[in-house]
Amino acid sequence: MPDLLMELGKDSYSIIIEKGALERITEHLFLSRKVLVVTDKGVPSEYSKKIVSKCAHPFLVKLDSGEQNKCPKKYLYLLKKMTENGFDRHDCVVAVGGGVIGDLAGFAAATYMRGIDFYNVPTTLLSQVDSSVGGKTAIDFGGYKNIVGSFYQPKKVIIDPEVLKTLDKRQFACGMAEIIKMFASYDKDSFDKLYSNKKMPIEELIERALKVKIDVVSKDEKESGLRKVLNFGHTVGHALECISAETPSMLLHGECVAVGMLCMSGKDAKKQIKKLLERYNLPTTFECSKKDLKNALAHDKKSKTGEISVVKVENIGKFEFKNKTHDEIINDCKGVLKLL
Ligand code: GLY
Repeated sequence: MPDLLMELGKDSYSIIIEKGALERITEHLFLSRKVLVVTDKGVPSEYSKKIVSKCAHPFLVKLDSGEQNKCPKKYLYLLKKMTENGFDRHDCVVAVGGGVIGDLAGFAAATYMRGIDFYNVPTTLLSQVDSSVGGKTAIDFGGYKNIVGSFYQPKKVIIDPEVLKTLDKRQFACGMAEIIKMFASYDKDSFDKLYSNKKMPIEELIERALKVKIDVVSKDEKESGLRKVLNFGHTVGHALECISAETPSMLLHGECVAVGMLCMSGKDAKKQIKKLLERYNLPTTFECSKKDLKNALAHDKKSKTGEISVVKVENIGKFEFKNKTHDEIINDCKGVLKLL
């Protein structure tokens, strides 16, 4: 498959989708320098080991897994590793993992000596189709997700679909939720193809989703308008993520986005999206109190003067941005959420 190109002038980079790319990593990445390889305990260690074995001067950091590690403490830990080992502007950082590792390692690379080379090797479907591409790097702070960060594009993204063989089913489904998000809001042709063809190869799915992401990001890198389309399902999704985190049956990010999309879709689009979500065993409803939902929406960092700009998809492939009050959003959730 030919490499994809994220066209961003001097910050352009290629995205390689290739089975076995990890084996041939030196064909793609320049590793004859100091390399900070950042991974977590949830990622099979064979992946980071493969990369470490090809580096001239590797420094491996294996963090605990989970969103709670996207924090100032772990960020400072990465900076410390680099200062202690004399990293300079010519050295680099490689993230090997999902969105948490990519965002955290990317932010460390973005800020160390005002920016050193960053390579992303995403190992979850969700990070392969969304978070590894587009340059959003960040950590959480003060109870807000991604509140401290920067737009900092990777030098290259290496996607090896082979790594998905070790990904658990629930995590795989979360990646499918983000793929469905991109197709439903922006690419009717791919949505229709997936809807009618159960056997679309994974490489094709990844490529089609990334083509959406590339088109959107290359037109609006800093999210002044169009890029907000990638937040389809995320306003309600984030709220559900906060609410469910307090319960024993905590939902994953992609699962919350799945339910969030249904809340923001028109009648026909909702029917079709729901069918696809069901195919991948993603949730299509959630039970919570109106009060919790209202509180969680009020905590949204995009909530200005009580209104949030949301993405609505009335018909597959067509989106619009709408400013809505918290009550209007709650109203849209009726029929999808079980509100107590
Ligand atoms: N994941 C949404 C974005 O990259 O803008």
